[in-house]
Amino acid sequence: MGKTITGFSKLDKIEKINWLTEAYFNGDNRFVKILSQYWNNDQKLQTLHDEFIENTITNFYLPLGIAPNFEIDNKTYAIPMAIEESSVVAAASNAAKFWQSRGGFKTSVISTKKVGQVHLDFNGKSKALLDFFNDIKATILKATSEITKNMESRGGGITAMELRDKTDVLDGYYQIHVNFETMDAMGANFINSCLEQIAKTFKFHFDANDETEGDLEIIMSILSNYVPECIVKAEVSCHVEELSHKNINGSDFAKKFVRAIKIAQNEPYRAVTHNKGIMNGVDAVILATGNDFRAIEAGVHAYASRDGRYRSLSDAKIENGIFTFSIELPLALGTVGGLTKLHPLVKLCLNLLQNPSAKELMSIVAVAGLAQNFAAVKSLVTTGIQEGHMKMHLLNILNQHQASSTEKEIIQAQFKEGNVTHKAVVDAIEKLRQ
Ligand code: MEV
Repeated sequence: MGKTITGFSKLDKIEKINWLTEAYFNGDNRFVKILSQYWNNDQKLQTLHDEFIENTITNFYLPLGIAPNFEIDNKTYAIPMAIEESSVVAAASNAAKFWQSRGGFKTSVISTKKVGQVHLDFNGKSKALLDFFNDIKATILKATSEITKNMESRGGGITAMELRDKTDVLDGYYQIHVNFETMDAMGANFINSCLEQIAKTFKFHFDANDETEGDLEIIMSILSNYVPECIVKAEVSCHVEELSHKNINGSDFAKKFVRAIKIAQNEPYRAVTHNKGIMNGVDAVILATGNDFRAIEAGVHAYASRDGRYRSLSDAKIENGIFTFSIELPLALGTVGGLTKLHPLVKLCLNLLQNPSAKELMSIVAVAGLAQNFAAVKSLVTTGIQEGHMKMHLLNILNQHQASSTEKEIIQAQFKEGNVTHKAVVDAIEKLRQ
């Protein structure tokens, strides 16, 4: 049975750990030992990480891998990826190399609009509220000027604002729908501060006016992680013959590949897994660059179902012998603010990417998603996914069985050609140890 506590947040780190040891680990000191193994000896660095969140007891590591040789819009990148799943970085690297000699990846940022909303209830006449809103719109915008000043000097700010009557979806429900341009910042704090000021000013002026009949209540003010107009496109293309490899004919491969994409565009069970493969690449770069992967996940999947059916995020076609594979992703990203200056590894990853603007990062992330998708579907329609995946997973199996470095070397050599299965690896370990 778990135990409860009041005032946990008031305890210092050691006190928290001591309490957890007693309450959940029967006083077993191995718990403390494992946690402390992950503390950083550099106290300043440790404190920095401790203070990112609340109630920190240790650090949770994820490997940071590099997928080199990405040719994106005629620039070369080594892409940092923070991810725990074996074979993702290897797959990205293979896809990067494959397309490097076939013209590389081309991208374009189609739009960068971000959205926030003030949600409100009103029980009077719709037209009266709309008229009142339009009358004081300039006053509302003016009231945000202190907040928007800096953003405007960087070329961003509030780009549009309107009151929307949503009473058809919910009785008495209206929203102030606001569009933002946040330049290189993800802009969450900026957007939310603007929205709260807009809500406050609107309510203040509404209450002060006697002409508009009805009660107005602000329900909430918050940005939207749905960004269908903050879109980047990435694509690769080549003649189908350039797709031939090993014993696979390029034209047959391209046809099967396109068919696999069409299946993912029309069958939700496949589409979800297909898009999960894309997010393997996307999330890994999002994490490495200190962006909010939950926001990206939520927005991307909503976009994948924008016509009412969940579909593939990527598309493929063959026209006049040219194979084209592309993706369109909604990505609201930042390369300044947030963790970007604070987390030393995030800073390093952005440096490695040659300090990209938010738009450039959108391109890099979309390419990582497309590359990952290419590698996965390529395996699926040729050898099957397990061959490559199990090769990469071999080391995990060996580590699970505490294999020494000599054992690892021998067994890895043994499985260089053969089929890797969990049982075959365990058998090989046992045989070696006999
Ligand atoms: C595994 O993490 C991702 C894949 O399942 C993606 C796909 O099926 O396209 C291999």
